[in-house]
Formats: sequence, C-alpha cells, structure tokens
Amino acid sequence: MGVSPENPTSVDPEIAAVVHSASSGPCPIYVGWDTLNSLGQRCSSNGLKGVAYLLTDDAVGPFHASHVRTALEEAGIPSHVFTIPRGESSKTLDNAARCYRWLAEQHAERGHFIVALGGGVVGDLAGFVAATFNRGMPFVQIPTSLAAMVDASIGGKTAVDLPTGKNLVGAFYQPRFVLADIHTLYTLPKREMASGWAEAIKHSLILDTDLFDTFESQIEAIKSLEQPLATNVIKRSIAIKAQVVTQDEKETSGLRILLNYGHTLGHALETATSYKEYLHGEAVAVGMTAAARISQEMGLLDTEEATRQEKLLQAYELPTRCPGVGVDEISSAMSRDKKTSGGSLRWVLLDRIGHALTRDDVPQALVEAVIRELT
Ligand SMILES: NC(=O)c1ccc[n+]([C@@H]2O[C@H](COP(=O)([O-])OP(=O)(O)OC[C@H]3O[C@@H](n4cnc5c(N)ncnc54)[C@H](O)[C@@H]3O)[C@@H](O)[C@H]2O)c1
Ligand SMILES: [Zn+2]
Repeated sequence: MGVSPENPTSVDPEIAAVVHSASSGPCPIYVGWDTLNSLGQRCSSNGLKGVAYLLTDDAVGPFHASHVRTALEEAGIPSHVFTIPRGESSKTLDNAARCYRWLAEQHAERGHFIVALGGGVVGDLAGFVAATFNRGMPFVQIPTSLAAMVDASIGGKTAVDLPTGKNLVGAFYQPRFVLADIHTLYTLPKREMASGWAEAIKHSLILDTDLFDTFESQIEAIKSLEQPLATNVIKRSIAIKAQVVTQDEKETSGLRILLNYGHTLGHALETATSYKEYLHGEAVAVGMTAAARISQEMGLLDTEEATRQEKLLQAYELPTRCPGVGVDEISSAMSRDKKTSGGSLRWVLLDRIGHALTRDDVPQALVEAVIRELT
C-alpha cells in the first residue's frame, strides 16, 4: 500500500498524504525538513488568516514556539501563546477550561484559528478545545514528537482524559492541515524518539513490506535522521495511517482496528505498571512481540518473520520483554479491556510481515503462555 495516485504529492513534494473526511474538507499533511518556515504560506493557502492561538507545552514551547510565531508573522498573522505543563496529566477538562477562558479573554472568534504545537498530549487537548470552543474553530496540527507525527496528529481524534480513564471525552474533528517539520525532532528526548519508531514500524508491519525492508536495511541512517531518507520513511509511515483513517474514518469497516497491532497487550502492560514504567511505544513493542508469538503459535506467521520483527524492534532500542511484571496483572488488565469493548478480545495478528488480520478465537491459555514467556 502506498500513497494513492490521487494524492497530489507530485504537485507538492511536501505533501505526504491527504486525509479525506466525510464531514470536513481534505486535510493535507505536509512533511519535510524546515517546513516550519512555510507555515504562514500554508495557512494562507488553506484559507486561514486572522489571529492564531498557539497551544504548546513547557518542553516544546521554549525550543520551537518563537520559530512558529515568526513564520506566522511573515504571513501577517498575529499570534498568542498558551503553555501547559508537559505530560499526560495535562490532558484534562480543567486545562480545556483554562484554554476556553484564555480564548475568551483574547476575544477569539470563529474566523481565528488554533495551532497545536507539541506531542500528542498538546494535539489531543488543542483539538478538543478547537472542536468545542465557539462550537468549533479551525485548527492546525504541528506535531513535534515522532509519535504525534506518524500517529496522533492524523485522523481527527481529539480527547481529554478523565480520572477514571484515558480519552473518555472527545470528538472527531479534523485539523485544516498537519505540518510536520522533521528538524524539530532534534530536541525530542531519545527514549521518546524510540517510542515513536514503534508506531512507525507498526505501520510497516501491518501494511507495507517494502517499508519494513527499508527500516531493516537502513537502521543507523534512519535513527540518526539522515536526510532525505528519514523524512521519506516518516512520510511513508504517515501515508499509511492517513490512508487507513480516510478509508475507515469512524472505525466502522474493520480497517482502522489493524492500527491496534501490539496494543492489546501494550495497553494492558501500561495499565499493569500504572503508566510509570513504559512509554506507550515501548509497551506497544512488547505487545507486538506478543502478537507475533501468538501469530506463530496459531500457525499464521513463520518463526523467521517473527524473529525479524523482534530484531528490528531491538535495533530501534525498543523492549521486547517485560521482566518482573506479573502475568496476573497483565491478564486482569486485559480482561477489563475486554469488558469495556463488549465481550471478546479481537487480536490483530500477522500472517506475514506487511500483512495483518484480526482473530477473535485466540485461546486464553495461549495468551497466558506467551505473556509468561515475555515476563
Ligand atoms: N488522537 C489520536 O489519534 C491519538 C493517537 C495516539 C496517541 N494519542 C495521544 O497522544 C498522546 C501521546 O503523544 P506523545 O507520545 O507525543 O506524548 P507527549 O505529547 O506527552 O510528548 C512526549 C514528551 O515529549 C515532549 N516533546 C514533544 N516534542 C518535543 C520536541 N520536539 N522537543 C522536545 N520535547 C518534545 C513533550 O513535551 C512530552 O514531554 C497520548 O495522550 C495519547 O492518548 C492520540
Ligand atoms: Zn499507539
């Protein structure tokens, strides 16, 4: 699977993909090196003018906010900045309310727009505020973490957490456009970078054998963000997510669920360790290892392919085991997930690298045996 022919990537080489949504217009995803310089022009060409309200966090803002503001100014767009503390604990209704008050104080109007500058936390919160303030304001995503570039900024899901669970309040709301500047990844902590590679590699595992081969043959060059290779690899991973969410915007056709590869056990591992030990992508890497082992035991995947996956994850500095975590804790977190999803656990498995499928007949005993192997 690649970028579909109707995507105008040949017209504008910075367009990695275009997300098409039933309820809003097309959302182009611009990806490149130093793309922030063209932000003002991108706003103008996408019909955004007026005032920009920039939402960021205290780790990203100091590095990148002034660059963004300068780029906006060059297009005659004034901007204001609101900064939240970094981390998942900021993705709350309280912070959404703080943003609403700030926007109201600044006399934000419908014709103005919100800019999310940061990782998935900022993107989800800013998107939720944009979806709801004044019954909807346009917004732009500028993802600065690799995980947000290849995953969270694409697809129009916005959300805040409640004390009882993550992402429990939210809306589907597409940004006007997404602009990812690979250069901003230079300030991203190394562990966050590896965590992002897990999601990028996941896209290749479920849908793109050639991309997996590139990840495998160019490990050091990709990890060190060698240009133009790294940008192209990130673009291809983005195009996969964009294509999946375009074809299954609201999770109805069964395609979007393939993006959950590695997430059944990954989520359970995050819960079992109280979100303290594993970054999301790290938990997903362990989860993908478990899913590949299950695929093998179900007679779907060759041992050699499962080994290639595991080696690749390790090469991108991701864990493939979770020593010391209790099998019971993981199993009970998984059965709680099962209850909330309405009964059966649908596993996303591989029958080869680059091709995923779903199965809801994975025996519990097999799942437990695989968890025992990995802990
Ligand atoms: N909307 C969706 O479809 C979707 C999909 C996946 C995940 N998410 C959400 O995304 C969030 C996770 O996103 P994330 O992994 O980007 O986490 P994050 O936003 O917490 O970012 C990770 C850390 O990196 C820092 N950071 C980000 N970019 C940086 C940069 N360029 N330089 C220096 N520091 C930088 C952040 O301040 C933070 O401390 C979760 O809340 C998750 O629920 C949403
Ligand atoms: Zn994920």
